[in-house]
Amino acid sequence: MDQAERLRSIIKQNQMTPPQAARVITVTSGKGGVGKSNVSINLAVEFKKIGKRVIIFDADFGLANIEVMFGTVPKNNLADLIYKGAGIRDVITWGPMDIGFISGGSGIAGLTNLGSDYINYLVQQLSELDSLADVIIIDTGAGISDSVMEFLVSSGEILLVTTPEPTSITDSYSLLKALKRHNRFSEENSQVKVISNKVSTSAEGQQLFNKLNTVVMRYLRLNIEYLGCIPQDKELSDAVMQQSPICISNPNAASSKAFRDISMTLMDIPHESTVYRRGMAGFFASMVRGRRVM
Ligand SMILES: Nc1ncnc2c1ncn2[C@@H]1O[C@H](COP(=O)(O)OP(=O)(O)OP(=O)(O)O)[C@@H](O)[C@H]1O
Ligand SMILES: [Mg+2]
Repeated sequence: MDQAERLRSIIKQNQMTPPQAARVITVTSGKGGVGKSNVSINLAVEFKKIGKRVIIFDADFGLANIEVMFGTVPKNNLADLIYKGAGIRDVITWGPMDIGFISGGSGIAGLTNLGSDYINYLVQQLSELDSLADVIIIDTGAGISDSVMEFLVSSGEILLVTTPEPTSITDSYSLLKALKRHNRFSEENSQVKVISNKVSTSAEGQQLFNKLNTVVMRYLRLNIEYLGCIPQDKELSDAVMQQSPICISNPNAASSKAFRDISMTLMDIPHESTVYRRGMAGFFASMVRGRRVM
């Protein structure tokens, strides 16, 4: 099937899919600077192009990645929702193509110590996201911090971005090891899908996955899946400088085509139907409640 046919068939299939809880996809990496925010934003653009309503949640409280890449400054962040009684709609900023984003800001760090009233309010507000979005993409910080782990174990789908640099592969392995050992990780509820970024050829992307998969199967006995690769592309780094997602500013760039392919693979019905969806409210309930028990 060529790309156009695949696209038509996905749109048709989706028209027949009944509404349900939002699909929560968490983008992560072992090492920083490997392309997580670009993956988050460009997949959001491609999902939007096939008619999905998308909200990106920027959970990297160190750097405000998404807003910089979108060139849009959010008025509020999650902390306003938690501590200042703002509603969920007040903390969503609508960026290019009507893609929503929520900045976690200092609210992420505060999630650890929330009292039950706050948690109930947060979960109730976040449940509204399930009616506002079909897909929620969470862009995390790099590495094995407790807060990143909490996001990962609460997510139905984990996209692990890796690059051919040797440190990126070893850091990806370390992240998967920490994930597998986490007391709330369940392979049944969370699928791990790998994207090879900044590759020279698609063969290199596949080899990179094979290398990681060999050690992961052998030492962690964890199933991971290869989602595809994105080439090293100067057009992409230029787009970042211009604060515009490459899939908007140059849909014909090699990296844009790769994002399109990956987005379609994610939206293929065999993929869609196997994902465990607990929606955004379920996601957060699992995250904050699980954390308080620990
Ligand atoms: N496929 C690519 N081709 C060329 N450059 C790329 C590619 N992917 C990412 N980059 C470059 O790497 C930089 C970092 O990308 P990005 O911000 O998406 O990474 P990140 O993993 O989100 O980083 P951080 O860990 O700091 O949040 C980008 O500014 C861009 O210049
Ligand atoms: Mg980032």
